Amino acid sequence: MTYDGLYEMLEHDHAKVKQLFKEYIENEDISKYNEMKKELVVHMKGEEEFYYPKAKKADEDLVEHGIEEHEKVRSLIGALGQLGENDGEFMAKLRELKMAVEHHVDEEEHKLFPKSKDTLSDNEEKEIVEKIEEEKSKAM
Ligand SMILES: [Fe+2]
Ligand SMILES: [Fe+2]
Repeated sequence: MTYDGLYEMLEHDHAKVKQLFKEYIENEDISKYNEMKKELVVHMKGEEEFYYPKAKKADEDLVEHGIEEHEKVRSLIGALGQLGENDGEFMAKLRELKMAVEHHVDEEEHKLFPKSKDTLSDNEEKEIVEKIEEEKSKAM
């Protein structure tokens, strides 16, 4: 699917991840968890490779903070992989992951995106969308 705007594309990913979390928690369908994990990993990689370097012009500290939060999310995903879904601690860790993701998404949507909207040119945004879409088509 092609999106016109960079922020629409990133926010669409965020909404998709939130939806998959919900579906996993409601139905305990591990395929939803695996799909969510893949979405998250690809989304974070795309942001780090193509969006964050440009967004640093808008606010370097927010971007550095965002990378730290991505690291936290990746480490929780790693811990969940070690536990496996039948482990008693899995749901507690999953809730931790869900909170970390929701917090991070909220900061991006309410702090970083508004700032970078004012800073990046249309062409830069278009280029980021193209690169992220290319990366996704390879990964998905
Ligand atoms: Fe992010
Ligand atoms: Fe994001």
